[in-house]
Amino acid sequence: MVNNTNCEDLEKRIKEIEKESIELKWAEEAFRKSEEKLKNILHGSPIPTFVIDNIHRVIYWNRALEEYSGIKSKDIVRTDRHWKAFYDEKRPCMADLLLDGKIDDIPQWYPGKYMASDLIEGAYEAIDFFPRMGPSGKWLYFTAAPLKDSEGRLIGAVETLQDITETKKAEERIKSLSRQIIDIQERERESLSREIHDNIGQLLSALKMGLSRINKKMPDELSTIKDQLSELAYLVNKTIKEIRGLSHALHPPLIKDLGLISALEELCQEFKSYSEIKIKWNFEQIQKPLQSITNITIYRLFQEGLNNILKHSRATEAYLTLTSSENTINVIIEDNGVGFLVEDVFSLLKNTKSLGLISMRERLALIGGELKIISGPAKGTKLIARLEKE
Ligand SMILES: Nc1ncnc2c1ncn2[C@@H]1O[C@H](COP(=O)(O)OP(=O)(O)OP(=O)(O)O)[C@@H](O)[C@H]1O
Ligand SMILES: [Mg+2]
Repeated sequence: MVNNTNCEDLEKRIKEIEKESIELKWAEEAFRKSEEKLKNILHGSPIPTFVIDNIHRVIYWNRALEEYSGIKSKDIVRTDRHWKAFYDEKRPCMADLLLDGKIDDIPQWYPGKYMASDLIEGAYEAIDFFPRMGPSGKWLYFTAAPLKDSEGRLIGAVETLQDITETKKAEERIKSLSRQIIDIQERERESLSREIHDNIGQLLSALKMGLSRINKKMPDELSTIKDQLSELAYLVNKTIKEIRGLSHALHPPLIKDLGLISALEELCQEFKSYSEIKIKWNFEQIQKPLQSITNITIYRLFQEGLNNILKHSRATEAYLTLTSSENTINVIIEDNGVGFLVEDVFSLLKNTKSLGLISMRERLALIGGELKIISGPAKGTKLIARLEKE
């Protein structure tokens, strides 16, 4: 005989199972819809994006990336050939390196082109040129981030790309224009310097000789006039020296004739002659011949550094060095003076007039160099510049 209670229990259990199965269907449907939604968002996004799973197989390849790479999603999804969009030979993309936790290998594949993302933990960004993309190559800024499930397990990686070719081209144009401006400025200075030296300098020398001739012919009885003539000759002489100094400051003729080191030594000797500040220097001869823009940049750096020491530092000592290693040139200009707040000089809001240090930084950047400034109130000042040997 069938037990009544058992029958009821069974019916109840069947109902429960039916309910559970409906709920499961709903959950599945909701999951499918949310996955579909995510796919649509990714697919419709104007940012070229791809996603790989934990065994480096592409699971998403959006429309924007199809456009960029010329590779259709259907031809690449479920393969591990995403590298084909960027490179000629098989190699890891940033997303692959992150997926394998090979952070230490990033420098090898993206030397000097990458950095850790400030925004997303574990993500990395890089900028690189891809000659195969587009008619004449593209500059891409790309970010890769690891993807984790709710338990923190690594389940894949996503990579987004941004075309920065136009920005790069604009940067290059600005760079080349700045270089031209500096070239023109130096040429103008050179011609002005020659003009002052050759023309005004010659005229003043003639004046000096004329005064001395008249003085010699003057009878000794006219001693007051003779004294006045001597005074005039002294002033003319002083003016000649000033003019020579100005002409040299505008364009150091020694760089071309005797080389950078002699020009720098001359600069220091001049400084010594008109300043109380004790100056020491150590300029190492650079074996490799440098481009004239590099020579002039180094010279202008020391010139501006010394001008600043004279004008602002109230130092008692200054020390200048020029050293070089296999690939770099190092410049140090140091004083023990009052120092200053570096951020004030480079703040657009606070500083409008001072151009010396800013233009030094710009000049260096144009030839791939950099300027570090260590200073602070009562801490003295140290300018450290590093330039690549061409
Ligand atoms: N060696 C130094 N010691 C103390 N203060 C300095 C030194 N060098 C620079 N400064 C400070 O930094 C400021 C900016 O220097 P910068 O050379 O850029 O401009 P500037 O010398 O004022 O003007 P210029 O455009 O003629 O060079 C100076 O006004 C000064 O306050
Ligand atoms: Mg200055």
